[in-house]
Amino acid sequence: FTTSHAASDEFPQCLSASILGQLVYAQSSPSFTSVLLSSIRNPRFSTPATVRPLWIITPTNASHVQAAVVCGRRHGVRLRVRSGGHDYEGLSYSSKRPEVFAVVDLSNLRGVRIDKQNSTAWVDSGATLGELYYAVAQASNQLAFPAGLCPTIGVGGHLSGGGFGTLLRKYGLAVDNVLDALLVDARGRLLDRDAMGPDVFWAIRGGGGESFGVVLSWQVRLVPVPPTVTAFRIPVTVDEGAVDAVTRWQEVAPALPDDLFIRVLLQNQTATFEALYLGTCDALLPVMRCRFRELGMTMNRTHCQEMTWIQSVPYFYLGSGATVEDILNRTTAAGTYTKMTSDYVRQAIRRDAWESIFAGWLARPDAGIMILDPYGAAISGVPEPATPFPHRAGVLYNIQYVNLWFAGGDGGGAAQMKWVRDLYAFMEPYASSSPREAYFNYRDLDLGANVVVGNVSSYEAGKVWGEKYFRDNYKRLALAKNEIDPDDFFRNEQSIPPLGPGK
Ligand code: FDA
Repeated sequence: FTTSHAASDEFPQCLSASILGQLVYAQSSPSFTSVLLSSIRNPRFSTPATVRPLWIITPTNASHVQAAVVCGRRHGVRLRVRSGGHDYEGLSYSSKRPEVFAVVDLSNLRGVRIDKQNSTAWVDSGATLGELYYAVAQASNQLAFPAGLCPTIGVGGHLSGGGFGTLLRKYGLAVDNVLDALLVDARGRLLDRDAMGPDVFWAIRGGGGESFGVVLSWQVRLVPVPPTVTAFRIPVTVDEGAVDAVTRWQEVAPALPDDLFIRVLLQNQTATFEALYLGTCDALLPVMRCRFRELGMTMNRTHCQEMTWIQSVPYFYLGSGATVEDILNRTTAAGTYTKMTSDYVRQAIRRDAWESIFAGWLARPDAGIMILDPYGAAISGVPEPATPFPHRAGVLYNIQYVNLWFAGGDGGGAAQMKWVRDLYAFMEPYASSSPREAYFNYRDLDLGANVVVGNVSSYEAGKVWGEKYFRDNYKRLALAKNEIDPDDFFRNEQSIPPLGPGK
């Protein structure tokens, strides 16, 4: 994998035997930049200093991906795989170190095939969540798929890293509902669940696909939803009792009936409670009054929005006025620079800490947002070793710290990134510990990055970030990596290092 080797024409020549030239973009191609930018979500990773790919390959079938792997290995070009481009550190299309690599962009592979009779679907990795949800709802308004809120997220990255949204308490993670998958491995083989074997099939359901190969498609279980669901969004200011409501929410939300999901967004001096209930407003109101009085006693029918499940997708993510068709829009506005990180909370945080979070951290001029997603019920009922995602029984909720800024702002985002990092440091006594857990799909390189020793990522060095995302499952992921890719062909700054058996 030396530059001199790959700077030759050998890699594109090799590809040309299997892939039409128009599906391969070299840096010199006039369309290269627009194809590269097409799904970059965070402009922090498209600056002049960003290490970019030398080629982008846009396959239209499995054999193209197989050829990219075979040619990449033969001619010293690593591959990074991009589905929806939402990676928080841009690892699907950029490198933090100088590296010779090509991007395999799966946006042309985005079919969704629904089997209504068996309540299953095959979905290609390049489809967005919006495209998947839309196809499911077209087949039936009483079927759904439990995954994330943002409709432009790619299926490939999301499913291989876990995936949770408003149905997480009823049906768990997206990966808890994966039945089969098609993977191109580092030898260029196309493998289904049986052919890849139980260890690798386990690993790609939450351990990050990019460490194990290129996942082309997923067979998923669709889940039943009632024809009418109820959503609400209720802001509560500090003056109206936000501190008490959030303090109470921590204990209530993870213990509610599994058909009720209530998350909280903390911004400025307001806690906004957003909920999805799998039932009608008439059924929801008594549950709220009985189980969550701090909010329930002020609630009435005017707070409820009854709708179908598919209508709840734009309701939660795109705001009022958005239609169901809008979730098909793949265009990602890369205007906002972002920095995110995450925590898990296993013991409710004291009221006085919430007071200082509101009065201090959220009142600062450069403050961002805290998003609290409740766990419990189905997501917590799955045993920790069942998938690589370990944040199960005992977790009350996930916190995501988010800050945003625009190009040309003062300081280029330094103050906003500092806010996230300083708040994360402040939260240490309140978050999970030994290890302090983090959600892999909210990737953060501040947690640590791989060290390459002898051309292979180091298992020991990877523990620093790997055990935060995967706890005890990190070791099993490294053994699975060794089974399918012992040479560490598929690697990035936070890919799973290979670990030989008996180590
Ligand atoms: P992208 O294409 O950037 O890939 C992410 C990682 O997966 C990269 O390392 C990439 O190489 C690898 N990868 C992608 N496709 C692959 C494939 N086919 N085979 C092998 N490896 C592959 N999460 C969540 O759980 N719930 C939520 O509600 C949200 N909401 C949300 C909103 C917004 C605005 C953003 C930016 C992100 C989220 N997320 C989220 C996080 C999201 O789930 C996470 O970033 C996913 O990895 C994104 O998947 P993409 O395919 O879009 O990313």
